Amino acid sequence: MKNLLHFFLFVSTLIFGSEGKHVYEKKCAACHELYIPMGVLEKNFMQMDNTLLHLKAPTINQIVYRLKTRIGDPNGDAEMHRMEIESFLEEYFETPDREKSICLPEILNYFETMPSMKGELSEEEFEAIVTFLYEYAPKAYQEKVMQYEPFKEASAKALAEDKLIMIFYTAEHCRYCKKMENEVMSDPDVIKALEKGFVSVKIDVEKGKNPVDFNPTMTPTFLFLSPQQEQLYRVPGSWVKEDFLEILREAKEKYNQTLKKGTKQ
Ligand code: HEC
Repeated sequence: MKNLLHFFLFVSTLIFGSEGKHVYEKKCAACHELYIPMGVLEKNFMQMDNTLLHLKAPTINQIVYRLKTRIGDPNGDAEMHRMEIESFLEEYFETPDREKSICLPEILNYFETMPSMKGELSEEEFEAIVTFLYEYAPKAYQEKVMQYEPFKEASAKALAEDKLIMIFYTAEHCRYCKKMENEVMSDPDVIKALEKGFVSVKIDVEKGKNPVDFNPTMTPTFLFLSPQQEQLYRVPGSWVKEDFLEILREAKEKYNQTLKKGTKQ
């Protein structure tokens, strides 16, 4: 009988696994944001008392990270671990209890206790959401965070490694800067492209000192410098990923052109 039940759960996982995102959107997204980079979350909770993001609940990437590291034996058998997580969730959804919470207490302080999901999820929906959460985990683990360096270190590194310097001019209340940070500068492809050919510096125009002879008229603005600190390319505005990757290619192209000119002289 038990085997039959497991078999049923296994099959329903196969069938309904892809439904997980849908269940999330229908039943969880009203409170839980899906993904916000860890660095931004840390700033929101540790420095800004949740006034940066005004979250109603922990994000799914936060929850998944905690689930995977706090429940059962993270280094044990994967199948077993999934079952441990599943039974934790089954119980928590039915009777949420702060005493049993996997969240950091500092973070939990910002939230009410989650309302019970009793009767809200069918068995299939529950299976689907468990699969969704479980499979969401690798992304949370492999998350790469954008690295910015102080200008001085950046310029030394740019020279040593023949990379361009990218300066990201931002401001605290600049909504489009946040959008860039949350949606573009946290994208793995963008981070990879920047790591490969650039050293990145972030300057808050209201606070930070500006080490170059250039004053952006708006935020965000991106300024690209050669390793020798010649200004190559200025790009104001907020961009989607594909356009931003194109801008990075253009910056490189401009640098190559100056190199060509240099050899002709
Ligand atoms: C009405 C808002 C709301 C909805 C809807 C909601 N949650 Fe939550 N959830 C919260 C809050 C607030 C917390 C943090 C407090 C807590 O842990 O009880 C939380 C915490 C959690 C936790 C962490 C439990 C722990 O150990 O603290 C998980 C896992 C979770 N939610 C999953 C889900 C899933 C999956 C759904 C959709 C099926 C969902 N939640 C729907 C508000 C909500």
